[in-house]
Amino acid sequence: MDITKYLEEKKKVIDSALESSLIPLKEHSILYAAMAYSLLLGGKRIRPILAITTYSASGKNEADILPFACAIEMIHTYSLIHDDLPIMDNSDERRGKSSCHKVYGSDMALLAGDALLSYSFEMASNPIHRNLFDEKLLLEVVNNFALSSGVKGLVGGQVMDMISSVDEEINEETITYIDRLKTASLISLAIRTGGILAGVNESEKLALSRFGENLGISYQIIDDVLDETSSPEILGKETQQDKKNKKATFVALFGVEKSKNIAQELILKAVDFLKPYNNKYTTIIELAEFTLGRMK
Ligand code: IPE
Ligand code: IPE
Ligand code: MG
Ligand code: MG
Ligand code: MG
Repeated sequence: MDITKYLEEKKKVIDSALESSLIPLKEHSILYAAMAYSLLLGGKRIRPILAITTYSASGKNEADILPFACAIEMIHTYSLIHDDLPIMDNSDERRGKSSCHKVYGSDMALLAGDALLSYSFEMASNPIHRNLFDEKLLLEVVNNFALSSGVKGLVGGQVMDMISSVDEEINEETITYIDRLKTASLISLAIRTGGILAGVNESEKLALSRFGENLGISYQIIDDVLDETSSPEILGKETQQDKKNKKATFVALFGVEKSKNIAQELILKAVDFLKPYNNKYTTIIELAEFTLGRMK
């Protein structure tokens, strides 16, 4: 399969679903504008694409899972808006444009992030989903949304990211923990949601989660490598920021080359969890391998 073409096609599907999903909010003009500004233009859509691809692997129709895939992209976008704020990473560029707070101010950016997080739960918990899915599965999905985005997930990881620094003693274990929480939680959620809604059994769900967790840690390491080696023109955000902000990353601890190797090993480890399912998950495996290519 031509994975670049697949990504392009699925990105279009996600972009259009995201645009439709915000329409009911249009009357709230400033808030809608700030939310739409960050959500609708730009972004690789890796997380929602992983969700629909995992779901489709069970022979299901991807349209069924689009509201959940969009909801995950909303959580991700909220985390980026808040991550860029002056009180956090203080980043002026995001997705090839000025960051949300540079255009709408920190107050509106904070609130647009809050609103995206709430709206993601509104979308995921919409009673209309009972027409397609068992209530038990829906509750499990919403519970997973909360766990992955909260204290034991993304927010907890962002806290660790903020209070850690290269100046203190950092080790591989701590950095892996930060990356697992702040980034792998949501990537794993995307894949796990695809599995849950497709009705896979517990052991398959666990295998998908482990795959997602290792892919997610690798994904953050790749992001850290690119912060060091790439350019704003390619990434659509400022580079050389982690050194400036004294971030505790694999790149700070081991340098670029070793970090690249660790990212690659994590993808191999991730893929191992899906071996028992033969060719069922070929496309998410190809997507995982594709993310490594970003460092070339
Ligand atoms: C950036 O994520 C932040 C990380 C968690 C590494 P992405 O690289 O997926 O950003 P977008 O969604 O494509 O803008
Ligand atoms: C962000 O990590 C992780 C989030 C949960 C938002 P980074 O701070 O490295 O992400 P970028 O480089 O700003 O996209
Ligand atoms: Mg950050
Ligand atoms: Mg940042
Ligand atoms: Mg980064």
